[in-house]
Amino acid sequence: MKRALVPGTFDPITAGHLDVITRAAMIFDEVVVSVAASKKKGPLFSLEERVELVREAVSDLENVRVISFDGLLVDCARIHDAHAVVKGLRVVTDFEYEFQMTAMNYELGPNLETFFIMSPPKYMYLSSSVVREISSMGGDVSKFVPPCVDVALKKRFGLE
Ligand code: PNS
Repeated sequence: MKRALVPGTFDPITAGHLDVITRAAMIFDEVVVSVAASKKKGPLFSLEERVELVREAVSDLENVRVISFDGLLVDCARIHDAHAVVKGLRVVTDFEYEFQMTAMNYELGPNLETFFIMSPPKYMYLSSSVVREISSMGGDVSKFVPPCVDVALKKRFGLE
């Protein structure tokens, strides 16, 4: 069984995240979307809300399940018996950050492989933070997020 983690803060999950998860699910037997607590980032949505939104967004992908974690990614991988991590790679600015995390994860867990999936051009500049900002100012983000997230953002920012 080839099992991969797709980790992230998912605050909130976007169409770009969903694209990476879907592609990973076509390559690996099982994908475990791992929602990080990321307390230091002061997320807009609570961990429970983020997990629920990801669960709803991936509900039609049979070999994908969703968990939360609050600690090291390498420990999460060990607990869930995963030997691979899959992340999306967008614009070049992602590279330095991802490179550092990958290098540290190789040190902490030498048996954990990290794979990157290039985002298709339409998602190259999409991020949760841009989605949060546009939505907080009353802009329409329905093209960039799953329907459940669109509803949750409108509720959060009182746009209904
Ligand atoms: O969506 P994000 O915020 O870019 O995801 C970052 C995430 C959650 C994958 C990363 O912060 C992470 O792996 N956190 C767990 C803590 C950890 O393992 N840190 C050491 C690696 S440098």
